[in-house]
Amino acid sequence: MITVQETDFALERLFRELSFPGEPAGLYDPLRYTMSLGGKRLRPRLYLLVYGMFGRELGPDVLEGAAALELFHAFTLLHDDIMDRSPLRRGAPTVWHKWDPNTAILSGDVLCLEAYKHLAKLPAAVLGPALELFTTTAAQVCEGQQLDMDFEKLPSVPMDQYMRMIGLKTSVLLGCATGMGALVGGATPGQVRLLYDFGYKLGLAFQLEDDWLDTYGDSAVFGKPIGGDILNAKKTWLTVRTLEKGFGELSELFGTVLPPAEKIARAREIYAQAGVEADIRSEIARLGKEALGSAEASGIGPEGLAVLGSLTEKLSGRNA
Ligand code: IPE
Ligand code: IPE
Ligand code: MG
Ligand code: MG
Ligand code: MG
Repeated sequence: MITVQETDFALERLFRELSFPGEPAGLYDPLRYTMSLGGKRLRPRLYLLVYGMFGRELGPDVLEGAAALELFHAFTLLHDDIMDRSPLRRGAPTVWHKWDPNTAILSGDVLCLEAYKHLAKLPAAVLGPALELFTTTAAQVCEGQQLDMDFEKLPSVPMDQYMRMIGLKTSVLLGCATGMGALVGGATPGQVRLLYDFGYKLGLAFQLEDDWLDTYGDSAVFGKPIGGDILNAKKTWLTVRTLEKGFGELSELFGTVLPPAEKIARAREIYAQAGVEADIRSEIARLGKEALGSAEASGIGPEGLAVLGSLTEKLSGRNA
């Protein structure tokens, strides 16, 4: 098995050496800017960790998959920040805010194409299925993002529809990372499916944690504004659960014009009355356990399971 340390080292080097065309600077500078801000690099890490449970060498063609996943993720963030009107990411101004929305659209587009340039260099033996998985995933992320925006306009959304929406906007890319890692590593189709399921379920827990952080996090650590979801009337796990418990005053609040700080404080009060903070913590723990159940069923063995277990635990209590 390839160690976590080897994986971290390979990732650090990969992103240090990643380069983009120089001209036109207006198109490529925002790419360099976004990528230089780092981020957790969770998707490439998941891909390489799972790959390392099957494959033996972190060759350059294998690493191309890691680059593709992170570049695609960065593309979704550039567009997401326009859609969510968010001025801050990774502790720095977002591209649309620092430049303008048109720049963020076009730089985002070319980031997506950069992702495909790297994906095309995966080992030939797995390129067909990897392209299919990646492209299906990419379209699903767009579907999820559309639902996320559609839901802003609805007074309430049932929990199963919320889970479907986050499954599309967030989980499929984590599933693609773990599934593709298994695929490139030479796992059986059954193992690829179970490890995809691990990533998918981990992605659900991950998005719940992101929802929690958006309301209760520390902006200086989280790197994003706090309360943006409330101000955008987003249907987060906290919102959906609160309404499910009969606290209809939350819908009313979302429809009321108030100074931002006041609106956020009032939403927090309603969440506290509904007791949804405790609910979300136990749901995150439950989803994490389910994810690890799929990983265990794939037969990766105790060493691999320990790696995925500690990552799941770290992500479930993260503050960034
Ligand atoms: C942000 O993803 C978007 C979500 C799916 C919540 P990350 O939290 O992985 O963002 P970075 O890459 O670390 O900045
Ligand atoms: C994440 O949704 C989904 C994608 C970026 C595709 P969010 O809108 O919650 O992500 P953040 O919080 O802005 O990172
Ligand atoms: Mg969004
Ligand atoms: Mg957002
Ligand atoms: Mg969020």
